[in-house]
Amino acid sequence: MCGIVGYAGGEDAVPILLDGLYKLEYRGYDSAGVAVCRDGHLRLAKTKGYVRELDRIVDGGRLLPGAVGLGHTRWATHGRPTDSNAHPHISHGGKIAVVHNGIIENYAKLREYLVGKGFEFGSETDTEVAVNLIQHYYNKHGEILRAVASAARRMEGSYALGILCEDCPDMLIATRRESPLVLGVGDGGNFLASDVAALIKYTRDVYTLEDGEIAVLSESGVTVYNGDLEMITKTPERVDWDISAAEKGGFEHFMIKEIMEQPDAVAKTVSPRVADGRVTLDELGIPDEYVMGVTKIYIVGCGTASYVGVAAKYNFEKYAKIPAESVVASEFRYSSPMIDEHTLVICISQSGATADTIAAMREAKRLGAKVLSIVNVVGSVIARESDWALYTWAGPEICVASTKAYSTQLVLTYLLTLYFAEKRGAISAGEYESVMREISLLPEKMASVVKDRETYQYLASIYFNNEDIFFIGRNIDYALSLEGALKLNEISYIHSEAYAAGELKHGPIALVTEGTLVVAVATYGKLIGKTVSNAVETRSRGARVLSVTTQSGADIVGGVSDRMITVPDTHDMLLPSLGVLPLQLFAYYMALMRGCPIDKPRNLAKSVTVE
Ligand code: F6R
Repeated sequence: MCGIVGYAGGEDAVPILLDGLYKLEYRGYDSAGVAVCRDGHLRLAKTKGYVRELDRIVDGGRLLPGAVGLGHTRWATHGRPTDSNAHPHISHGGKIAVVHNGIIENYAKLREYLVGKGFEFGSETDTEVAVNLIQHYYNKHGEILRAVASAARRMEGSYALGILCEDCPDMLIATRRESPLVLGVGDGGNFLASDVAALIKYTRDVYTLEDGEIAVLSESGVTVYNGDLEMITKTPERVDWDISAAEKGGFEHFMIKEIMEQPDAVAKTVSPRVADGRVTLDELGIPDEYVMGVTKIYIVGCGTASYVGVAAKYNFEKYAKIPAESVVASEFRYSSPMIDEHTLVICISQSGATADTIAAMREAKRLGAKVLSIVNVVGSVIARESDWALYTWAGPEICVASTKAYSTQLVLTYLLTLYFAEKRGAISAGEYESVMREISLLPEKMASVVKDRETYQYLASIYFNNEDIFFIGRNIDYALSLEGALKLNEISYIHSEAYAAGELKHGPIALVTEGTLVVAVATYGKLIGKTVSNAVETRSRGARVLSVTTQSGADIVGGVSDRMITVPDTHDMLLPSLGVLPLQLFAYYMALMRGCPIDKPRNLAKSVTVE
């Protein structure tokens, strides 16, 4: 979603801001802008569309000199993506400029209040309310930090704000609530950003701004205050991300690069948690009595993360013998889950910043559950607020469509399943060992699948004109079908839907006509025959069937499919890790054939920080 970058230093700000905005493009946006303060005057440029258009308008920064500035990419919430709704926004009277991520929920009331005080508005955004509220308090107190603190107290909802004031031309101010902001400490200049990707080229020393804190950045330093404007001391963290992770490294898209990175990412995520053939999750420090006493598991997440939850549900029930339910976070937060202190809620989130998942986590805690999170972004809200956090070591995922986060989340659910199953005596020693053996082989088997890209190029060349595609599967293959259909929806814009294979004849089969493409996901040994029968039912009605199965399933599946993809055999628990790879590659090459903007699909954002 929206991205923020800010700079206060000894160099011209706009080239640095543009560079940061390019790095934030992956978050998804529809307009962009920059503002600088120079010689006591604010100047800005903003436009609907891409950062490269903004770059052209300001001639790479040459038309907008100044050493203190803010940049923003906006993903429209309040108001359409237009030049006037783009950030930065300037206060009535022109003294203050603001960029904003998040949603100010009481903006209508505040706007009415400000209109009553004589403020005029030129956009439909809630951000203009924020900047005018700060201006209102600035008029009253005559002191910018007091004005920011007073305005922050009146705003409800979520916000991360970057603020410039003409009267303090050397200062950049930032504050936040529930929307992330990091501060980078550089040599000869300091930085502000909504995520580290924007500033990692300049510094690896960052502070995370906490809810309610206010930061002042200048060329010489960074000072942080609490909401009462008392100075506080923070310790910088060192970011160890590999800078090349934010570059395409010779690949045409981040998506294909990230697909290819999955074997390594899975190996990195698993290896620190396995010793002597056993899962060790000592890093969590979960008491054994708690593990023994869990009576119910909810797995909560959004989109792809929630589909990891669907696969995990089957595995927890089958191997750890614990009742488990996967619920999308946006539903969980408003349902009435039956929770007590023996309920474990597992929150899965790449970003750790998804608004619905955060709300679900807080609701679960309020109701007395313990929360264990599976998160990729270190120090994110979900990681910090959950009782136990397990990190996926996927590195930054830049493509909006999730791939390596999915794979690394999935393997952590296997480790958790095994950990609970072993401690509770629910799994035999033989079965435990056979899963562990296969886990150690997983990266190699994954690598063997992703190296065969030509197959998917070829399949896409046959199928890319299809406008409706159905995915069917049972059990863990149903979980995979959900993910396969979602990938295709988001990056190729093909209408695709997933059904539990047995459900087809209860309705959706009415949609099958001559030439409809049905992707039959049939990797789960015990149910391959059943899914195949459902695929045959669609074939008898004119469908073309593309199957995904295992090497040992090929005999049953081959004869009834128009085309078949096979993945290596592995332990049943781990099948989703291999089965998902053909679905990702298929979606990627379908989108490529259709000329879609794969890394930044329309209307989508990487971190969904609004409800
Ligand atoms: C799909 C995708 C989204 C995310 C979802 C949750 O490819 O990326 O469905 O999985 O928005 O995001 P996180 O994992 O950051 O909570």
